[in-house]
Amino acid sequence: MRQTMWVSKVRTSHVCRECGTHHPKWTGQCTGCGEWNSLVEETTSTGVPIDTTSPSTTRPRSGERSEIEALDAVVSETGNPLPTGVEQLDTLLGGGLVPGSVTLVGGEPGIGKSTLLLQVAREWTGSVLYVCAEESARQVRQRADRLRAIRSDVWLLAESGLGDIAEAVATTNPSLVIVDSIQMISDPLVGSTPGSVAQVRSSTQFLVHLAKRHSIPFVLVGHVTKEGDLAGPRVLEHLVDTVVSFEGDRHHSLRLVRAIKHRFGATNDVSVFEMTSDGLIGVEDPSQLFLADRRTHVAGSVVVPTLEGKRPLVVELQALAVQTTPGVPGRRNAQGLDPARLSMVLAVLARHCNLPTASLDIYVSVVGGVKITEPGLDLPLALAIGSAIAGRPIPPDVAAFGEVGLGGEIRQVAQPERRYSEALRLGFDRVIAPVRSPDAHSQLDLVRVGDLSQAFDAVGL
Ligand code: TYD
Ligand code: MG
Repeated sequence: MRQTMWVSKVRTSHVCRECGTHHPKWTGQCTGCGEWNSLVEETTSTGVPIDTTSPSTTRPRSGERSEIEALDAVVSETGNPLPTGVEQLDTLLGGGLVPGSVTLVGGEPGIGKSTLLLQVAREWTGSVLYVCAEESARQVRQRADRLRAIRSDVWLLAESGLGDIAEAVATTNPSLVIVDSIQMISDPLVGSTPGSVAQVRSSTQFLVHLAKRHSIPFVLVGHVTKEGDLAGPRVLEHLVDTVVSFEGDRHHSLRLVRAIKHRFGATNDVSVFEMTSDGLIGVEDPSQLFLADRRTHVAGSVVVPTLEGKRPLVVELQALAVQTTPGVPGRRNAQGLDPARLSMVLAVLARHCNLPTASLDIYVSVVGGVKITEPGLDLPLALAIGSAIAGRPIPPDVAAFGEVGLGGEIRQVAQPERRYSEALRLGFDRVIAPVRSPDAHSQLDLVRVGDLSQAFDAVGL
């Protein structure tokens, strides 16, 4: 039986900014991802009858005739990447920006996205269209003066409508388009306000199309929430080719720029920049910088040779343990690492090392505003907490890495040799590592440990 369902003209629903789940009614917490206060109203207009039994007969053709081609006859679209001229960014992107591709640059407000992109505009070979939807042309000029990025073939468009952008691309014929930011862009065909999920998604789709049609790279700026998710743009990650994300604390000068999605190369690689009065400068030796303020002989501090993508980085991890107010559960505060890993390590310490922490406030922090997500941080975390509780420092020449299992065992992590070399290069010649670690250079005193108690013994705790 043929069933026709009429959809009302205007439909209002609520969409999660984080994961895109639709909800018929507003609720405080998204049932899709569990995020609080992330629902936004979305209005869609439609008057189309939907034949639910035979949808294909009621769908119009997409307009232009699409060709059906044999796979082997299709010419691969990936052109050679064009260097941005900002060296560290090019390394991250595997050479630069691919013509016709769309790159999303995410990060908290104030972290340096506009600065980096203006530096790209300064170095770019060819003309650039810079859509400054957030700031006036004068404000951009002011920043460009500071960055010595004044060029006559960088075109500024202080508009936020898609029609204006399409027209400006056609008239200025640029070889790079920068849109700062996608949250400010509006698609007149979508009813909701700029920044809403529907607007951001629709605008991005339009720009992806525009980039392909003109075969020029587009770079879009997207703001993220404090938790580091691409707010709204999370839904965008699927639409673009590359997602590059800024990390770091905007109150510190170090910035980590990470490729979290990259259709044309490796992901999870990072480049490190320092924000200076002359803009972002690539840091050649980030480990040196991370350790610059370190004080040795302080309890709770341990050095970790970690890995960010392929790049080894040596960072300092600090822990502090203080007695809680009686009757109040101990606070846990984790900066630069996953709080869930902290809880797990604390549970293992309590169960397998006789080190209960329920009556302690525990603070842990990866120094320098870096966020470390790899499991090699577990063992140093346990050592730093143990050292903080005991009030005894870990010897200054020691570095440690390894994953902690729920049984208190120390498990192997990726690329131990790279970690050895980076530790040694920075003067840490004793490394506490998982029991199955490969042999090391003879200059390195490698201490293999099978469980946490052996690790504590190795550092004199
Ligand atoms: P900005 O690029 O505007 O951040 P975003 O676009 O991500 O919001 O960077 C803003 C911060 O950077 C601001 O606090 C000023 C600082 N800054 C410098 O320290 N040096 C510079 O050369 C520039 C241009 C900005
Ligand atoms: Mg900006």
